[in-house]
Amino acid sequence: MPTSAITIEPLTPTIGATVHGVDLTEPLDEETFRFIYDAWMEHLVLFFHDQPMTPDQHLDFGRRFGDLHIHPAAPYVHGNPELMRIYTDKDSFRNNGERWHSDVSADEEPPMASILHIHQIPTKGGDTCWSNMYAAWDGLSPQMQALLEPLTALHASDYSGQYGDHKPQRESPRAVHPIARTHPVTGRKALFVNSSFTRRIVELPVEESDAILAFLYEHVKNVNFQCRFQWGANSVALWDNRCTQHMAIWDYYPESRSGIRVTIKGDKPF
Ligand code: SIN
Repeated sequence: MPTSAITIEPLTPTIGATVHGVDLTEPLDEETFRFIYDAWMEHLVLFFHDQPMTPDQHLDFGRRFGDLHIHPAAPYVHGNPELMRIYTDKDSFRNNGERWHSDVSADEEPPMASILHIHQIPTKGGDTCWSNMYAAWDGLSPQMQALLEPLTALHASDYSGQYGDHKPQRESPRAVHPIARTHPVTGRKALFVNSSFTRRIVELPVEESDAILAFLYEHVKNVNFQCRFQWGANSVALWDNRCTQHMAIWDYYPESRSGIRVTIKGDKPF
């Protein structure tokens, strides 16, 4: 596919872009993949509309970026733990990803990317928001950056009871990561704490840790760092967990929303 047929339409100046002219049901040639990859590095989250991918095509697209990650506890579909189920209906007591987070940041090597394919959408709502963690880091004062830069934070998950009767794939992970991580491709610093997984700043007393984390969790919600995406059936989002956080809005009760997430393994943050 000639890359001249592909257009990239930014959603905001800060984060997110829609890719037009790509068919994800077909294998991507190297030139097209490289074009998409470069746009992804620039915009952090890419959106594709009208992509009726099969689960196998979804897995193939994910494998172009690296080995696939298996969620510690979430249910999956088609008997394949690489196909994480995203599903909320009137009987759900929680919605996957309804608090700001970077996927499974409690893993020793958290996932670098996620690719979500939404199949069923409510009549209204069910949008997802992403926030740019380079912008969040750059938006801190030099004094606050100097305080945070040498510090690390404990990330931990506790999935007990979250997925009903589904037996977890492995133990709930925990890991210590730098608060400011360096993106291995762009070399830029990104804020790497989130309200779903980060428990405390290791080097500080708990009261100071709580106060600073509360400030940072508010900071990542700054609308100037964000985009908001309205899904269509068969929309796809590809995001970089190393430099973004996201949050799924559950405003469509009692309707249902469902899809599949393929997640790509990452490396140890530094
Ligand atoms: C997730 O956190 O991966 C779920 C996002 C969504 O459902 O929009």
